[in-house]
Amino acid sequence: MKEIIDPNNLPQHIAVIMDGNGRWAKKKGAARIFGHRNAIQAVRDVTEGCAELGIGYLTLYAFSTENWARPKAEVDGLMELLVQTIRKETKTLIKNKVKLQTIGDADRLPESCQENLRKAMEDTADQERLTLTLALNYSGRWEIVEAAKKLAALAAEGKISPDQIDHDLFASYLNTNNIPDPELLIRTSGEMRISNFLLWQIAYSELYMTDVLWPDFRKKDLHEAIIAYQRRERRFGKISEQMKP
Ligand code: IPE
Ligand code: IPE
Ligand code: MG
Repeated sequence: MKEIIDPNNLPQHIAVIMDGNGRWAKKKGAARIFGHRNAIQAVRDVTEGCAELGIGYLTLYAFSTENWARPKAEVDGLMELLVQTIRKETKTLIKNKVKLQTIGDADRLPESCQENLRKAMEDTADQERLTLTLALNYSGRWEIVEAAKKLAALAAEGKISPDQIDHDLFASYLNTNNIPDPELLIRTSGEMRISNFLLWQIAYSELYMTDVLWPDFRKKDLHEAIIAYQRRERRFGKISEQMKP
């Protein structure tokens, strides 16, 4: 699989909606948290897979603003798992030259999560091979509203005029201001929806949905997604004839 990937046509940024942990556990007759625990290996595999291929940015949807509405035990379990995983994985991130960052409103995460995240981000800040962005307490609409609020405040203070607001200025007020838009968005578990992920940034992303449940997702599945991406023609509103070199 990996051999047929064209190294000259790789996405720079892959975003993933990691879905299906609960169903994976249910199929095994286990509690949902068992699925979340088994999701970590998929995260490791995909991170390593991206680094090996030279993909510069990987963004993982780990917890949405809507996920707070789940049963408290599951939310607590997820937060605990997040703390443990960050602590345990920082060494491997450094070894693989991966820089960790987050998008979303981290202030609402438990204090221990915030502390461990801050430490892991500090410890990996100098790494440059791959930027791994975890979307935590994130939603696309939240992010867009936050950007609008900041720009409205600047306009009200007379620091910018409303006419100055264009795509680039708006995008610079999003959480993702330091990362390019994803060329490829993967969603596992067969669901055909975006669930409030990167709404602004995926305007022209190629969408790849697979029935594989996230805990089963491995490098070979990543390679399949990239190969499917490379077979697409990205026209950006033009016609096919205009796209030929
Ligand atoms: C994705 O798996 C993980 C999170 C949303 C945190 P789910 O927990 O949504 O699993 P399903 O969709 O119920 O199978
Ligand atoms: C999307 O999955 C959020 C994350 C993967 C973190 P959900 O399981 O929450 O999405 P819906 O509710 O099925 O749309
Ligand atoms: Mg789900």
